Amino acid sequence: MTIPFPAPPDLIYLDHAATAPLCEAAASAIRDGLRLYGNPSSRHDAGQSAHDALVAARGQVAVLLGCAPEEVVFTGGGSEAINLALQGTFAGRRGHLVTTAIEHSAVLECAAALSRRGVDVTVVGPEPSGHVDPARIAAALRPDTVLVSVMHANNETGAVQPVEEITGLAHAAGALVHVDAVQTAGKLPVAGLGADLVSVSAHKFGGPKGIGALRLSEPHTLEPLIHGGGQESGRRAGTENMLGILGMAAAAAYATEHLDNDLTRAAARRLRKRLVDGLSVVGGVRVNADDPVVPETVSVSFDGIRADTLADVLDAQGICVSTGSACHAGQDSPSHVLTAMGVSVEQAKATVRLSFGHGTTAADIDAAVAATVAAVDRLRRVSGTAVSGAS
Ligand SMILES: Cc1ncc(COP(=O)(O)O)c(C=O)c1O
Repeated sequence: MTIPFPAPPDLIYLDHAATAPLCEAAASAIRDGLRLYGNPSSRHDAGQSAHDALVAARGQVAVLLGCAPEEVVFTGGGSEAINLALQGTFAGRRGHLVTTAIEHSAVLECAAALSRRGVDVTVVGPEPSGHVDPARIAAALRPDTVLVSVMHANNETGAVQPVEEITGLAHAAGALVHVDAVQTAGKLPVAGLGADLVSVSAHKFGGPKGIGALRLSEPHTLEPLIHGGGQESGRRAGTENMLGILGMAAAAAYATEHLDNDLTRAAARRLRKRLVDGLSVVGGVRVNADDPVVPETVSVSFDGIRADTLADVLDAQGICVSTGSACHAGQDSPSHVLTAMGVSVEQAKATVRLSFGHGTTAADIDAAVAATVAAVDRLRRVSGTAVSGAS
């Protein structure tokens, strides 16, 4: 078995939802790929070697996505896959898009751009549990609904959405479905979702950053975002990012073999329980999102503390956590996901996300728990916050 890249010895990395460490299989595929200098579109031997490697890589990603290789379109990451799905579907047409208030900004900003071009957008809110009720999606569907875009699991809370049910309802109404599976590919099966379009990103499951894929189920077609030399069967022009693709394919194969299975999921649930139980001793603790969740992502609020201060205190001890989604780090506004769930602004600003993955050990969790409990306790003492229920 290939050993995943360990975090540096002095670092406890609990920010896998922002980006997962590169796995050793991906690193070695990238190293080998440096020797493949041909352009996969060239007829000569060097080009054909690159072409063969591209075909094999597409096949490995297709296995993870549970689709035919021809349905895989490589993109420059998850955001581009999402933009291709939404903009490509609505190119040259108006109609109606249904999405949810807890989507990643790649979906929400893309929906906003489409709305400025005349597409009618309905944004459905979540329940306090962090889940979108399929009945609310059904109520939003109209005869002119072209597309429903929903995420598989939320990047801040880990809440797994009832995607199969939503897909069934949307299809019955004649609409297409796009699923943002960036937070689940490699952790949960994404093959049987029934969606027409599925976006994934390599760096969330052990591959390199800046490479992703859109699964485009046949016979659905869409207008490319990037026009040019006809690569990716005319769906995304530009000489392929071979190193990224090879790294993504190796990470996909690694995830298919080692991560996306019941044993790994059971181990992740045990680590989650250890983390949540450990943190709860400090009292005044709330986990945002009920089951079902991806166990690896834990959104937790501590009464009376500021999340950014807590994250900085932990960072100074070599423990990496986040105060929300990485792409919003640095902003002082409360999380749009938590506020949509009905969480108060105060609680949202007291929320950190701890997310683990391949390579995380029980010892890492215990060390992070001990440091967090001590830091929360100290920060509350300094601010004079009294909390009931602390043991
Ligand atoms: C749910 C979700 N969708 C989309 C993205 C964007 O992916 P990328 O960083 O590859 O553009 C992310 C990244 O954080 C994400 O968590």
